[in-house]
Amino acid sequence: EKGAIDMGERPETLAAIDKAIHACARCPIGELNNAAVMGEGPQDAQRFSGLMIVGEQPGDQEDLAGRPFVGPAGQLLDVHLAQVGIDRSAAYVTNTVKHFKYVQRGKRRLHQSPTAKEIDMCRWWVESERMIVQPRLVLAMGASAARGMLGRTVSITKARGAPIPLEDGSELWVTAHPSYLLRLDGAGREEQERLFRKDLAAVAARLTQLQ
Ligand code: URA
Repeated sequence: EKGAIDMGERPETLAAIDKAIHACARCPIGELNNAAVMGEGPQDAQRFSGLMIVGEQPGDQEDLAGRPFVGPAGQLLDVHLAQVGIDRSAAYVTNTVKHFKYVQRGKRRLHQSPTAKEIDMCRWWVESERMIVQPRLVLAMGASAARGMLGRTVSITKARGAPIPLEDGSELWVTAHPSYLLRLDGAGREEQERLFRKDLAAVAARLTQLQ
């Protein structure tokens, strides 16, 4: 498989992945003062909607809380999910890179984007999660998440709006990362929020269609 490191046997349970990522120091990010953040979502088919939502990596607050998308980006995501009628608690929410990559600036830890190499080292875990969770739809937010799912870089502008078939028959939908929206303001922000919501609405419609 392109862009994937062979790490041997695939873990068979989410608990095994959770344990393994906490012990992982295959790349320099794992050696910073941080803790791995595991994905979260319902474990039973009754409650699972079939949607997996993938981000880039935990941020400062996620690292401290040990849960994905609980900081500012997560709050913005929650607003948009609610607007299109996607129930976050019925989705499996996770990240491509399992540890928070940052540089220390005084008291603050500033986000650093993972390199393609780091994504390719870490994507083994999110791929393993996907194989266990078996979502019908995957929403990858941002270029790192898209690379994490595909093993190659795609342009968000070009890839958004239409599903990309994955090898197991599920569909990958690509959109912008909510942190990108947070960095914009004015008309640019409004336009990108509109496009983001449109992508989420398409995923919501597809999810309804599949159920
Ligand atoms: N950004 C991400 O990509 N993931 C998180 O969990 C939080 C912020």
